[in-house]
Amino acid sequence: MIRKITTLGGYIREYQESVENPKLFWTHQAEAFYWRKKWDKVLDWNFEEPSVKWFLNGKLNITENIFERNMFLRKDQPAIIWEPNNPEEEGITLTYEELFKKVNQFANALQKMGIEKGDRVVIYMPMIPELAIAMLACARIGAIHSIVFAGFSAKSLVERINDAQAKMVITSDEGYRGNKTIQIKAIVDESLTDCPSVENVVVVERTGGAVDMKAGRDIWWHDAIQDMPEENEAAEMDSEDMLFILYTSGSTGKPKGIVHTTGGYMVYSAYTFKNVFQYSDNDMFFCTADIGWITGHSYIIYGPLLCGAKTLMFEGIPTFPDEGRLWEIVDKYQVNQLYTAPTALRSLMTYGEEPLDNKSLRSLKVLGTVGEPINEEAWHWYHDHIGKGNCPIVDTWWQTETGGISISPLAGIIPTKPSFATLPIPGIQPVVLDNEGKELSGRNVEGNLCIKFPWPGMLRTIYGDHERCKNVYFSKFKGYYFTGDGVKRDEDGYYRLLGRVDDVIVVSGHNLGTAEIENAINEHPLVHESAVVGYPHEIKGQGIYAFVVCSELSTGGEEGIRNSVIKGVSKIISPIAKPDRVQIVSGLPKTRSGKIMRRILRKIAENNYSDLGDISTMLDPDLVDEIIKGRIG
Ligand code: WTA
Repeated sequence: MIRKITTLGGYIREYQESVENPKLFWTHQAEAFYWRKKWDKVLDWNFEEPSVKWFLNGKLNITENIFERNMFLRKDQPAIIWEPNNPEEEGITLTYEELFKKVNQFANALQKMGIEKGDRVVIYMPMIPELAIAMLACARIGAIHSIVFAGFSAKSLVERINDAQAKMVITSDEGYRGNKTIQIKAIVDESLTDCPSVENVVVVERTGGAVDMKAGRDIWWHDAIQDMPEENEAAEMDSEDMLFILYTSGSTGKPKGIVHTTGGYMVYSAYTFKNVFQYSDNDMFFCTADIGWITGHSYIIYGPLLCGAKTLMFEGIPTFPDEGRLWEIVDKYQVNQLYTAPTALRSLMTYGEEPLDNKSLRSLKVLGTVGEPINEEAWHWYHDHIGKGNCPIVDTWWQTETGGISISPLAGIIPTKPSFATLPIPGIQPVVLDNEGKELSGRNVEGNLCIKFPWPGMLRTIYGDHERCKNVYFSKFKGYYFTGDGVKRDEDGYYRLLGRVDDVIVVSGHNLGTAEIENAINEHPLVHESAVVGYPHEIKGQGIYAFVVCSELSTGGEEGIRNSVIKGVSKIISPIAKPDRVQIVSGLPKTRSGKIMRRILRKIAENNYSDLGDISTMLDPDLVDEIIKGRIG
């Protein structure tokens, strides 16, 4: 069992140990797990190539650590508790033993369909128990899962399937989301015309809606598991064998397939889960993220299940059938730790306190947030109205790339301060660098957030493109991992995240590369070019502002173009990436060398253009006045 830090003194001691002797520190954590063969070396690393390896030559299977290791104590204890979209429908509780059998059964089915260790399997599914079963079954047999959030378009799915060269897609007929039914299988069908690597599609029946099943390719889940035994011998994996690929948007080009490996990710996700949330046996943990994002990977599935926790999985949305749904779930299951996103809180705040009437919320002990900075107003609302002033808030900073929470209070142990992620998790050595790469030591400094020493949960590479991994994360500041975030360390040594310093915008907690959105906009036949920037948005944190240059206006005029641009982005990427504001302009401000001056556009979008800084290098300064006049918002 992972030891839990229980006092501030304990944190300080453990943090110190982790910096002074990281190998010994992580050895102690890793010893809590079941290894078929112990590692011969704890760590091998350099940030130049980069190459990072943890627990070298250790042999294990992560599902053996979830199931066999927990079975003696927790056979009949709930593992996953599933709440459906519609509260009228019955939920499902799977104990550790029941989940184990289902995972084994599907693992056998995967093997029968020809999936082998190292094969890539894309999972494109709504939040139903089979999603969890599918990912764990992949891990059981050593196949590499790549989960794609089911809100992504067919085109985004094609890109991810092809990049991973996936052999199989696991999906469902349709999905429920609020009062909508999403045609999931139809999106997969549309994608697969362009995905030659895919041999089979497994389809879970969720709604019973009509779908086309392609003979020889498509198999119903219930047929695939028929007669499959409920035992499966776990594949023996090396610590550094890939566990999963998860795509995330970058500032340029196509999405990056972030690679996590088995041993290090296991130790890190479990260690952070237990310590940040201060999970105790029998607590009910509820993370509202979708498993399609890293938060769902690490804190609905791997972290909690490795710790033998009870983890709640919710199919629906916070506002269906009404705005009190999340609070109703908290009461229904007596949730002890709630982990959600600031954007959800800001949106729920707009309904006032009425949805909280008749809700007790007394079971709550810890509240968490993730994905973007939490503004003070939302922090206080969460603290006062949800936590009733009694629950510490853990504002957890981390990334798909870090694998687990990296800067965060440990609940009830590290004193919190609204809008501060506070202090690093043991094992994380954050540094603040100025733009020249000089470490800014001491207090009250602001700059680029980097991490100077490896931790077990960090990414190992970008799938199929190690050079890009090096360029994006390890080149700007030599010898450091660069997060892409700006940060301030205040007079108490606390960290406050200041947002991205690259061309990524974080909208409702989702990362979106401006280049990716621009490419989608530019596919519009009348669009000549475009530039996308973020601006402060009351609910989403950041909104998407697009400046668009058209060759001519369609019959619908500016409004017509605006609408079709928005629709286009939704179709090409996902509704998440839809611009909130589209301004048609006659040109974009550029330098003489032809580079778009995004700094200027950002200031205009932010309504903060009294001082635009140096515009002497601009090709056509008159444009700025025109753009300001036409500004939206
Ligand atoms: C942002 C999500 C401020 C940040 C787990 C980071 C945050 C990006 C916080 C990663 C936070 C995440 N405070 N900003 N508590 N948490 N971010 O990969 O910009 O989806 O780099 O991982 O979200 O987003 P990702």
